Amino acid sequence: MFADGIKVAPSLLSADFGRLREEVRRIEEAGADWVHLDIMDGNFVPAITFGPAVPRALRPHTGLIFDAHLMVAEPEKYLESFARAGADLITVHVEATAHLDRVLREIRRRGLKAGAALNPATPPETLDYLWPLLDLVLVMSVNPGAGGQPFIPEMLPKIEALSRRIRTLGRPVELSVDGGIDSRTAPQAVAAGATVLVAGSAVFGAPDGLELIQAFKTTGGPRQEV
Ligand code: DX5
Ligand code: ZN
Repeated sequence: MFADGIKVAPSLLSADFGRLREEVRRIEEAGADWVHLDIMDGNFVPAITFGPAVPRALRPHTGLIFDAHLMVAEPEKYLESFARAGADLITVHVEATAHLDRVLREIRRRGLKAGAALNPATPPETLDYLWPLLDLVLVMSVNPGAGGQPFIPEMLPKIEALSRRIRTLGRPVELSVDGGIDSRTAPQAVAAGATVLVAGSAVFGAPDGLELIQAFKTTGGPRQEV
C-alpha cells in the first residue's frame, strides 16, 4: 500500500456521478494508485457530497485503495460505516474533533490506515504527540469544501516542514497534498516532499486529464532532499 514513489489519488469529487463505476475503471486503467473519496457533511464544510453508500457500491468493481477524506464534524461517529464500506485509509481533520488521539486509535483498531488532515491555517505542530498513530498526513492546499480552487503557495513550507519531520521517524508516513494540484503545482508539491498527490478537477475536468496521472507519478523524478 505504501510503496515507494509518488502515488496519485484522483478525487471522485470532480467525476461524473452518473457513471462512477466507469470513472473508477478509467483512472485505474490510467495508473492511479488510490481513489480519493471526499466526504462532506454540510457542517464541518458547507457542502454535502456522499456517505458510505458510494464506496460500498464501488468496492466490488476496483482494486484501488480507498482513501476516505472525512470533512465531517465528529468523525468518530462515522468510522464504523466507512470501514464496513471498504475504506482502506480514513483521514480525519484535526479541526473536526476534540479527541483526535482517540479517533486515530479507533481507525487503527479496525485494521485501517489512519490519517490526519490539516486545514491551511493549522500548523504542523498539532501532530507533535500523534506521530506513532499516523500513517498519513494530508496537507490541505486549499480550504476544504470544493474542488477547482487555486493552490495556496504558502502551504509549500508546511509540506517541507512535515517532510523533514517524517524523515526523522524511521517508519513510513505518507505526505498527501490535496487541492489545486495540476501540472504546474504538482512538481512544486513533490519537490517540497509530497508523496501522494490528490487531484480532482485536473484529472476529471480536462480531456487529457487521465494522462496527467502518469505525468504526476514521474513528477520531479527521484525523491529530492529538501
Ligand atoms: C477539497 C477536497 C479536494 C478537492 C480536490 O475540499 O478535499 O480533494 O476535491 O479538488 P481539486 O483537485 O479540483 O482542487
Ligand atoms: Zn480531499
